[in-house]
Amino acid sequence: MKAIRTHDSSAGIAGLVYEDVPDAKAGLCEVLIKVVACGITHNELDWPIWTCRAGHRREAIIPGNEVSGVVAAVGFGTAGFAIGDEVYGLNDQLRDGAAAEFVAIEARNLARKPVSLDHIHAAAVPRAGLTAWKALFDHGKLEKGQTVVIHGAGGAVGSVAAQLAHWAGAEVIGTGREHSRELAAGLGVDRYLALDNGEKLEDVAGQADLVVDTVGGEVLTGSSVLLRPGGILITIKAASEFPTDRDDIAKIVFVQLPNRDQLAELARLIDEGVLKPQVGAVYPLAEATAAFTTKAAGGVPGRMILQP
Ligand SMILES: NC(=O)c1ccc[n+]([C@@H]2O[C@H](COP(=O)([O-])OP(=O)(O)OC[C@H]3O[C@@H](n4cnc5c(N)ncnc54)[C@H](OP(=O)(O)O)[C@@H]3O)[C@@H](O)[C@H]2O)c1
Repeated sequence: MKAIRTHDSSAGIAGLVYEDVPDAKAGLCEVLIKVVACGITHNELDWPIWTCRAGHRREAIIPGNEVSGVVAAVGFGTAGFAIGDEVYGLNDQLRDGAAAEFVAIEARNLARKPVSLDHIHAAAVPRAGLTAWKALFDHGKLEKGQTVVIHGAGGAVGSVAAQLAHWAGAEVIGTGREHSRELAAGLGVDRYLALDNGEKLEDVAGQADLVVDTVGGEVLTGSSVLLRPGGILITIKAASEFPTDRDDIAKIVFVQLPNRDQLAELARLIDEGVLKPQVGAVYPLAEATAAFTTKAAGGVPGRMILQP
């Protein structure tokens, strides 16, 4: 089958090649998916993904672990899915991803595709949706009437987080660049701070019960000013960038794992019209390098999608 791969752990996007690879096969309790659309994260090749849990080094990586497609085969012991089913899911980050014609995924990491979405929009949901859900509700304990600040509200994770927080009845303050202001307003963001256009975190000092950071760097380090005493600061970036000037707030960093039940819940919210996944651009699989490069350069809202 054709796939995008990298064989070089230090090359980043420059190491990606479009090539023939061994056919993916469904193993024990796995599903083989004919990929219709694959979601990528521009800096995923920088994550610590070259060493598997068992400790052995991966020789090559197929990126893009968010997938929407059609079940082509089921492995031994796989229950709940049949050939022809339309599914979406998040593959384990330490396995080959979906930037390929086919991908094998553990069935427990899949759910039925939202019926109201095409595959392109469904592929924008798994990592972004699961990460946003975990940040807001599992770690952030967000409740109706609270105020949440979402850094990067126009991005893939942030755009889902903004919609879910609005749905949960929170006051939503979004931050990001000026180009995302209009998008954020349409997602339910009540107040938006364009950090590249003169607006500052200090403008909403002391108002937040929860901060969800998808940007990191100075935005994260400067976030202690936002929180009320007892508030929660969550980042999906680097814990090393947490502010050190507050001991009356909780600080949480996490890495999202696949979760079938939450995928099913996200699909329900999508089909009820609560959540609208944002797709910034769609590239052919063979042009993955351009897709990664373009998204990394900034200005592409929501998720970048590849299609075989
Ligand atoms: N821990 C986890 O489990 C987990 C899960 C998913 C993602 N992540 C990480 O989280 C980050 C966000 O992921 P994503 O897919 O949502 O990326 P994304 O789509 O690029 O979203 C980031 C958003 O923040 C904006 N932004 C970036 N730097 C900014 C700055 N200095 N000031 C203001 N706005 C800024 C971006 O605008 P521009 O597009 O204009 O730059 C974009 O709208 C990535 O680094 C990703 O690797 C971690």
